[in-house]
Amino acid sequence: STKKLWGGRFTGATDPLMDQFNESIHFDRRMFKADIMGSQAYVKALCKRHILTADEARTLDQGLSAVQAEWEAGTFTIKAGDEDIHTANERRLGELVGSVAGKLHTGRSRNDQVATDMRLWLRDAARELVELTRDLVRSTVERAEAEMDVLMPGYTHLQRAQPIRWSHFLLSYAWNWQQDTQRLEQLIERFNVLPLGAGALAGNPFEVDREFLARELGFRDVIPNSLVAVGDRDFVSEFLFWCSLTMMHVSRIAEDLITYSSSEFGYVSLADAYSTGSSLMPQKKNPDSLELLRGKSGRVFGSLSGFLMTVKGLPSTYNKDLQEDKEPMFDAYDTLHGCLQILTRVIATLKINPDRMRQSLSPDMLATDLAEYLVRKGVPFRETHHISGAAVRMAEERQVPLSSLTVADLQTLHTSFADDVSAVWDYERSIDNRSSIGGTSRKTVEAQIAALQKWLA
Ligand code: ARG
Repeated sequence: STKKLWGGRFTGATDPLMDQFNESIHFDRRMFKADIMGSQAYVKALCKRHILTADEARTLDQGLSAVQAEWEAGTFTIKAGDEDIHTANERRLGELVGSVAGKLHTGRSRNDQVATDMRLWLRDAARELVELTRDLVRSTVERAEAEMDVLMPGYTHLQRAQPIRWSHFLLSYAWNWQQDTQRLEQLIERFNVLPLGAGALAGNPFEVDREFLARELGFRDVIPNSLVAVGDRDFVSEFLFWCSLTMMHVSRIAEDLITYSSSEFGYVSLADAYSTGSSLMPQKKNPDSLELLRGKSGRVFGSLSGFLMTVKGLPSTYNKDLQEDKEPMFDAYDTLHGCLQILTRVIATLKINPDRMRQSLSPDMLATDLAEYLVRKGVPFRETHHISGAAVRMAEERQVPLSSLTVADLQTLHTSFADDVSAVWDYERSIDNRSSIGGTSRKTVEAQIAALQKWLA
């Protein structure tokens, strides 16, 4: 059977089924570049400590570059015994440069190595997701700016509540994603610290310069305790939580847009490019893209809770359970990578039906404005709420729109009603009244757009 890197103390062979069970190369090969990068930095650190001569260091460095080139060209051949990306790269390095390859792992363990690789890999991956969430904010803001004049019912409890601008609705999600982007940037800052040089658990016996390693690899600091360096996966948990929270926002707008695209609402219709038909019912156009976005949130939440379960009972430092950290991390990344792009395109290509939105506004949605009319005449709000409620009841009993009650009708409820009450029945006015920061008025929606554009710039 194949010679194992750790095989010295063993006499018995591994059950082939156990080899298969134990290997992680089929998924951790994704980190080949991070693994090479970490090794190249480590070569330099060993050379600084005279564990390697300058010649040996050059040989190893070039050999590692050659291994990377094979991965990039797709010519790297995984062999039996390549347990994970670390053993595979080292095995191949040995084939290319000979026995000097055996010096690379001096003082290093796969424990500090894998933790380093993952942080390097996730740093690139997270920076890519930062770009995708920014793209999502950008296209949502563009749409909000272009469709400023479109009015729609705003809902609470999914019941018609007050008129709002469609842009205001879109921007509410743009703000969620702006926060998500900032959170991810902060998360990168937190996890961008160096485990390498921690050894298996107790530290490095050759005085490798860990601050040098950190600078070489672009980490902002060194993890100050070797036990936590090899055993901590909080960065994976935090990343999975970030993915979950972001998907929660994705899922909520998906739900909104699915609702708004039903015939009953008819506010939006999805571009054909992001819809599918029914194999049975010829008339159907289904919002599959949005349903998948909503559905995939569950999968990401599962990765988070699953991984927390994996870690919660572990004794300190490295345990092989931690090999289970990579698949949820990769899967969540892939899911977000797909979802953020699809959602950006769905939002950019959505057709809206402003007439339908407008027709769904009804005078009873101005009942609050009617109460506020009396407030402006000096009546306490708690009283005006009741008076306006009585007007709603009167209109309902007569089966007429609230706005068709006459001034005389209203005066039976309160003497402060006058002719100028007719100005209440104006949706634009209602909307533009809400002009304190964060409100749906034109002025305050424009301010939101300007603030987000400034952040995007
Ligand atoms: N493939 C392993 C992982 O992903 C690498 C670390 C192995 N370390 C060990 N002591 N067995 O966690």
